[in-house]
Amino acid sequence: MPFKTVLVTGGAGYIGSHCVVELLEAGYEVIALDNFVNAVGNAEGSPALQRVEQITGKKVTFYQCDLLHKEALEDIFDKHTIDCVIHFAALKAVGESMQQPLMYYQNNLLGMLNLLEIMRRHNCFQLVFSSSCTVYGEPESLPITETHPTGTITNVYGRTKYFIEEMLKDLSAADNAWNIIALRYFNPVGAHQSGLIGEDPTKEFTNLMPFMAQVALGKKPVLTVFGDDYATEDGTGVRDYIHVMDLASGHVAALNLLNSKHLRIKAFNLGTGKGVSVRQLVGVFERVTGAKVPLKMEGRRIGDICAMWADPGLAKEELNWSAKFTLEDMCADFWRWQTMNPDGYPKKLKHSSCNGHSK
Ligand code: WQD
Repeated sequence: MPFKTVLVTGGAGYIGSHCVVELLEAGYEVIALDNFVNAVGNAEGSPALQRVEQITGKKVTFYQCDLLHKEALEDIFDKHTIDCVIHFAALKAVGESMQQPLMYYQNNLLGMLNLLEIMRRHNCFQLVFSSSCTVYGEPESLPITETHPTGTITNVYGRTKYFIEEMLKDLSAADNAWNIIALRYFNPVGAHQSGLIGEDPTKEFTNLMPFMAQVALGKKPVLTVFGDDYATEDGTGVRDYIHVMDLASGHVAALNLLNSKHLRIKAFNLGTGKGVSVRQLVGVFERVTGAKVPLKMEGRRIGDICAMWADPGLAKEELNWSAKFTLEDMCADFWRWQTMNPDGYPKKLKHSSCNGHSK
């Protein structure tokens, strides 16, 4: 029986909202929930999801709901027949996680445990979990395959992802009804081609691309480069940047696999397979946008690794998925979002059908 209805936790967020576009375009009925800890919105709804409806011409059922409130979550499962879940909802700022470990463990681990318990109570065992390349820690070899050891992690955020993967393995070993895919993202950047949705965290930016765009907009004077003494081509950190729309289509591919195969639990890298340094990314960004990004070299950032990029072969072979967008696309699409929305999403909601329910 093909999946029809998918619950997307964290659906108003950066990756969540882009994933909802692809799910709607693939014909799924989408129920999205978010607690707005890291996305703009309120009980009336989410500007990001209102714009998702504008882009797709399709409806999204939305709930303001915190996974730490089990009764509210239970109500949603009581009201809808949910065939599968994509779980994005989590705190994800690496630096913040080091200052507030309890908040991260409570929110990310307890939220996952509540979701699993209620899924099981409602006989829903199909799950795509938003994991991260951070679970690999400092790579022993590159490119990184899914068989690379996990667990030697340098920050609390990454440890929550690792612990949840381990919990899911134990759950799957104890009850073979579960059918789970963990998607290990590399560095998500870019925005939907319309420029209507993009990255707009309610907290301080921490990632390179949004920082670079703020400098290009003149909102910040310089881009601080954390370390130019790494053992890389130009001394700056190397990462595998992947377009958020490629990431979104990877989730649809994962649902397709769960729909067709009982694999119990499996992890897949979602990356391009190309390592790009900070200086290289700045160069492409300046060329594509025509904007200047003055740099200021500083020491290494605590917790940073030198280089990380994916071997995306397993996802190609088993998910029939590979990244399509180029670095130029990532920069151009992010810049379109940023210039069309220099202050992010409107803080006031337009009236639209995607009005939320508060749980
Ligand atoms: C990229 C590179 C920095 C900012 C994090 C999470 C990871 C994933 C993606 C969720 C590094 C350098 C950055 C700046 C800089 N998130 N940099 N100046 O740390 O690779 O990964 O986000 O899954 O789990 O850990 O991303 O964008 O912060 O850094 O020089 O102002 O850019 O040193 O080399 P990171 P990032």
